[in-house]
Amino acid sequence: MPARLKVRDILINGDDSLIGQRVTVKGWTRTIRSQKTFSFIEINDGSSLGGLQVVADAEKVCDYEAVLSKIHTGAALGVVGVIKASPGKGQKYEVAAESVEVVGGCDPEAYPLQKKRHTLEFLRGIAHLRPRTNTLAAVARVRSALAFATHNFFQEQGFYYLQSPIITASDCEGAGEMFRVTTLPDKVSELPRVEGEEDRIDYSHDFFGAPAYLTVSGQLSGEAYACAMGDVYTFGPTFRAENSQTTRHLAEFNMIEPEMAFADLQDNMRNAEAYVKAIVRHVLKECEEDLAFFEKFYDKTLMARLNTVRVWDLFSEGVGGERSLWPAGFTDTCKSDTSFHWNLLADTVHPFFSPSHLPPSLPPSLQLVSESFARVEYTEAVRLLQEEIAKDRGAWQFPDVDFGTDLQTEHERWLCEKKFQRATFVYNYPREIKAFYMRDNEDGKTVAAMDLLVPGVGELIGGSQREERLGRLEAKLEEFGLDKEDYWWYLDLRRFGSVPHSGYGLGFERLVCYVTGVENIREAIAFPRTPGSATF
Ligand code: 4AD
Ligand code: MG
Repeated sequence: MPARLKVRDILINGDDSLIGQRVTVKGWTRTIRSQKTFSFIEINDGSSLGGLQVVADAEKVCDYEAVLSKIHTGAALGVVGVIKASPGKGQKYEVAAESVEVVGGCDPEAYPLQKKRHTLEFLRGIAHLRPRTNTLAAVARVRSALAFATHNFFQEQGFYYLQSPIITASDCEGAGEMFRVTTLPDKVSELPRVEGEEDRIDYSHDFFGAPAYLTVSGQLSGEAYACAMGDVYTFGPTFRAENSQTTRHLAEFNMIEPEMAFADLQDNMRNAEAYVKAIVRHVLKECEEDLAFFEKFYDKTLMARLNTVRVWDLFSEGVGGERSLWPAGFTDTCKSDTSFHWNLLADTVHPFFSPSHLPPSLPPSLQLVSESFARVEYTEAVRLLQEEIAKDRGAWQFPDVDFGTDLQTEHERWLCEKKFQRATFVYNYPREIKAFYMRDNEDGKTVAAMDLLVPGVGELIGGSQREERLGRLEAKLEEFGLDKEDYWWYLDLRRFGSVPHSGYGLGFERLVCYVTGVENIREAIAFPRTPGSATF
C-alpha cells in the first residue's frame, strides 16, 4: 500500500509535485454523490477544514457497487488512488481512486450528524461526535496550536515546565470554591466522626489523612519552584466549584501559570504581553484556514482584532525592544489601512530600529510609547467608568462603581472594547477584593495586582506581584481569616532566601474564545464540565 498522506499534506501543504503520486488516504465520509458510472466522496480526516474529493470510477474501483452501497456520511474509509489536479471549483487536488475500503460503516438513519448545520447547543449533547464538525475540529486545531506556541514561548525564554499537583490541601485563591477529593465510604452510617462532634466528618481517616481538594491554581507550587529555578510555568487543569452558568466559566479549565523570581509587577505585565502576542502571531501563521472560517461564520472582526495584536507586536518588539516608535495618528490609520503601516514600518520607523539608535530628538511626527497594550490603574479605570456611566446610567446593569468595586464583565468590556479598543491591563487593585498573596502597595489601599482584559472576552489573565515580606504575609493571612499553620511551607519561602517574585494565570479556554471568536466557553474545550453536567 502506498504511504498514507493526511488531507492537510495534500490540500494545504501540498504542491504540484504531488500530481501523479499514488497515495493512501484515510478518514471519514462527509458527503457522497453517487452516479451510475462514478461517485464523488468527500473525505475529512481532521487535519484540515476542507475535505479531500475522491473520485471513484465504476470501471476502476473493484466491487464498485457493493462498496458504494456501504458508504454514507460518517463511514470510515481507506482509499488508495492517484492525486490529480482537480477541475472542480474550490479544491486544487483530488484523488482518483483505485480501491475504496469501508473501514467502519455508518448507519445513515442513526447517525446524528447530517449535512445541514447543527446548532452548537445540539452538538454539546453529542460531544463525542462533535469533533467531526467543522467548528469543533477547527477549535481543536487552533487549541493545539496555542498549546504548542505556549510551550515554545516559555521554553525559548528559559522557563521550566512544572507539573503542579492536581490534588492539594491548600485553597490558593482563598475563595472556598474547591471540589473535595475523598475515598470515605458512601454510607452515611459508616462515615468516621470527630469525637464529641458527631455531625462532623473526621478526615484524619480519609486517604490523605486530611481534607483534600482539586486544585484551583498551581500558583503556590509555582512559587516554590520559581524561588529555586528562577522562571517556571505550569500548564494544566484547574477546578472551580463556582456555581456560575456563564459563557466564560467552566468547572474544569486549563490554566497557564508562569512564575518569575526577581520580577515585579511591571516585569509581569511585560511578560504577559509578550506571551499573548507570541501565541497570536503563531496561530495567525499556522491556522490561516481555520481563522478564515471563524471570521466568516463567527466573528467578522476576528482578523482585524488579531492582526492589530500582530502589528502592535511589530512596533513594540520588532521595532525597538521594549520601546517603540508610534507616529502620531498611527493607531487610527492602523485600523483603517493595513498597507499603510507596513510601508511606514519600512520607510519611517526602520531607520530608528532600536532604542540605542534613537535620534537625540525625535521628529515631531513620531512619539515614543513604551508598550502597546493599554495600561490603566484601577483607580483611574474607576474614574473613567464613573464618567462614562454618568452620561447614561440606564445603559448599565451595574451603574454603581466606586473604589472597592469588583469590576463586572460589562465594565471590563467597556474598558477594553470602547475606551482603549485593545488588550488592556488594569493594575493596582484595592487590596480587599484581591487574594491574600498579593503584595501590598505603599499607599496602604492597593495591591500590586493586574488583570488583562481583552475585547470579546473580558478577563483573560489575572496575576500579581507576590507578598515576599514574611511579616506582611503573616498579617495578611490573619486579616483574611486564613490559618497560618496551613500555609507553613508557603511562609517558609519568605523565611529562606525570599525574593520579589511575580506571576499570572491565563485561562486557556478564554484564550481559545478570544482567538477563534466562539462566544461560549463550552465550545472552547473538548468535554466541558459545568454545574449539572459532566457526561462524556
Ligand atoms: O484570576 P484567577 O482566579 O487567578 C489565579 O488563579 C491566580 N492564582 C493566577 C496566578 O497568579 N498564577 O484565574 C486566572 C485566569 C482568569 O483570568 C481566567 O482567564 C481564568 O483563569 N479562569 C477561568 N476560566 C474558565 N472558567 C473559570 N471558572 C475560570 N476562573 C478563572
Ligand atoms: Mg481573576
